[in-house]
Amino acid sequence: MFELQNQDCLVALDQLRDASVDLVIADPPYRLGKDYGNESDKLTPTVFLAWMEQWLLKTIPKIKATGSLYLFATWQHSPEIFSFLKRHMLMVNEIIWDRRVPSMGGTTRKFSSVHDNIGFFAKQAGYYFDLDPVRVPYDSITKKARTRSLFVGKKWLEVGYNPKDVWSISRLHRIHRERQNHPTQKPLELIERMIKSSCPMDGLVLDPFAGSGTTLEAAIKNGRRAVGFEMNPVYCQLIHNRLTSTTRKSQQGHLY
Ligand SMILES: C[S@@+](CC[C@H](N)C(=O)[O-])C[C@H]1O[C@@H](n2cnc3c(N)ncnc32)[C@H](O)[C@@H]1O
Repeated sequence: MFELQNQDCLVALDQLRDASVDLVIADPPYRLGKDYGNESDKLTPTVFLAWMEQWLLKTIPKIKATGSLYLFATWQHSPEIFSFLKRHMLMVNEIIWDRRVPSMGGTTRKFSSVHDNIGFFAKQAGYYFDLDPVRVPYDSITKKARTRSLFVGKKWLEVGYNPKDVWSISRLHRIHRERQNHPTQKPLELIERMIKSSCPMDGLVLDPFAGSGTTLEAAIKNGRRAVGFEMNPVYCQLIHNRLTSTTRKSQQGHLY
């Protein structure tokens, strides 16, 4: 079940009930000058940071006491934004998303940047978190190497290890099967890990910057409810088309 509103999140957030959201996944414009059919990625640094604080202050009260928030950012602005958020929420992790960018040319005056910074914040210490659905299976070589009696029958060897805070997941190249017509679409695998670990079944996920609808699709696919806001009507239509096919495929019982 999902709801999508073609609105500026600053307006739409006011309509949400306080303490109603289990998980916020927010992937706002990074201030990289991308064309989202609006000027949202072209703000000056000062205006950008003030705007970030404005929508975050509207978002935080919507989160339940057990809820949490994942915020995508770049290294250029994450220090200021995460410091600001630490005054209002509990910082749990900084996740580094390694986009697995292949070797490339580009500037020779600095190192090539190939990661995004994701801040994971909770409303308070008793936040919901379930590691089991996102454990990483051990490969057969590691399992074989742990055959000493000390390890035999150990649960952790069977259920997999705790995911680390560096997530190496390929960005979506142009011909990827998930790819939609949106410049900064995130991979489902990345968003699904957040949802499975940080939102209870049937819980509510909020995405204030829905883009191509990745969060909404990941939520539906995993039995969570979702609400999304997106300013650009063309992207809203894209999301509707994407989710219609997801829902239909899901009902047929062979989504992927
Ligand atoms: C980085 S993209 C999100 C991409 C998305 N996570 C995905 O996987 O497709 C940011 C989106 O936020 C939208 N946007 C920018 N400012 C907004 C605002 N104030 N309210 C709602 N949407 C906004 C842009 O149009 C853009 O589609």
